Amino acid sequence: MIIRAHSSPNIALIKYWGNRNNEWRLPAADSLSMVLDFPTVRATIEPAEKFSVQSYDHNGIEKPQSETSIKRLQKHWALTKEFLHTIERDEGLPENISIVIHSGVPPAIGIASSAAVFSCLAEAYGALVQSNPLSQKEISILGRLGAGSGARNAWGGYVALENHGEGMGSAYGRQIARETDWLLHDIILVPDQKEKKIGSTEGHAMASTSRLFTERIRQIPRRMQECINALQTKDFEKLRNISEEDALDMHRVMETQNPPLRYLSDATHRIIRDIENLRSSDKLNVLYTMDAGPTVHLICTEDSLTTVEAFAEAQKDCIIFKAKTGGASHLKNI
Ligand code: DP6
Repeated sequence: MIIRAHSSPNIALIKYWGNRNNEWRLPAADSLSMVLDFPTVRATIEPAEKFSVQSYDHNGIEKPQSETSIKRLQKHWALTKEFLHTIERDEGLPENISIVIHSGVPPAIGIASSAAVFSCLAEAYGALVQSNPLSQKEISILGRLGAGSGARNAWGGYVALENHGEGMGSAYGRQIARETDWLLHDIILVPDQKEKKIGSTEGHAMASTSRLFTERIRQIPRRMQECINALQTKDFEKLRNISEEDALDMHRVMETQNPPLRYLSDATHRIIRDIENLRSSDKLNVLYTMDAGPTVHLICTEDSLTTVEAFAEAQKDCIIFKAKTGGASHLKNI
């Protein structure tokens, strides 16, 4: 039995930063993101004698997997089996699998590559389950067990990751609006392709060492509500205010935790300043947001797209990706 699945990254509008349980990637607070249609990740899995992983990069070149990356994939498979056992859906699951990943997402530069990979695997693992298919909620939980933000790809469009009680399955996604409800564009500016030294997993575990963390957690429910309202009423100005407030707040937490994580570079700050100037003179519907890297996501409405693209293309030394609101992770027939 060969199973093939597809997925893509998502970009957070209200950021997930810090866990209440690191082992199960249970977030300390809720978060919300837009699923992107590009770049894509596809994974093929097959029951096998022993666990193995092969991975190809965005140029189709085989990428040797680090020990850490293999361990993380192996751990995700083990947690997947454990979760499916707790909900009594593990009948007939193979002991081991072989995985082949083709990723169009450059790793570790602030485009959620782990969300795309683990939500893709979650979709594929779900198809190993016999009798009734798993629900999207269960697929979302499987995604989260590999990368917290991977829970937000089990639906398309705009998806919240919310906490509900205790236990392995106690945080999962909920669709806030569909991709067809509001199409937004994400012009992604990558100023620096160096892989970051400290990734999100280590960063989440140290978030609570920031003196600003408690206040951040206190603010999230209000921000979530405002973001949900903005999305449901297609109020771009409201969306911009709340998502920029939250992105800058997350980076302040990162920069004040121990050890400090300074993901934003001079180029990031310059791009932010220039887009703020441009939008105030040209009345553009564009907002900026950054995940764990110097990459700037310029999210804009259709009517501002041409100007935002021209702005992006005028940036020296930046690689540009053009994406828009996308659909859920899904299986592909072979
Ligand atoms: C800054 O989901 O990448 O992008 O579970 O360790 O893989 P792991 O973390 P991950 O964290 C995402 C952090 C973020 C914000 C966000 O996407 O909400």
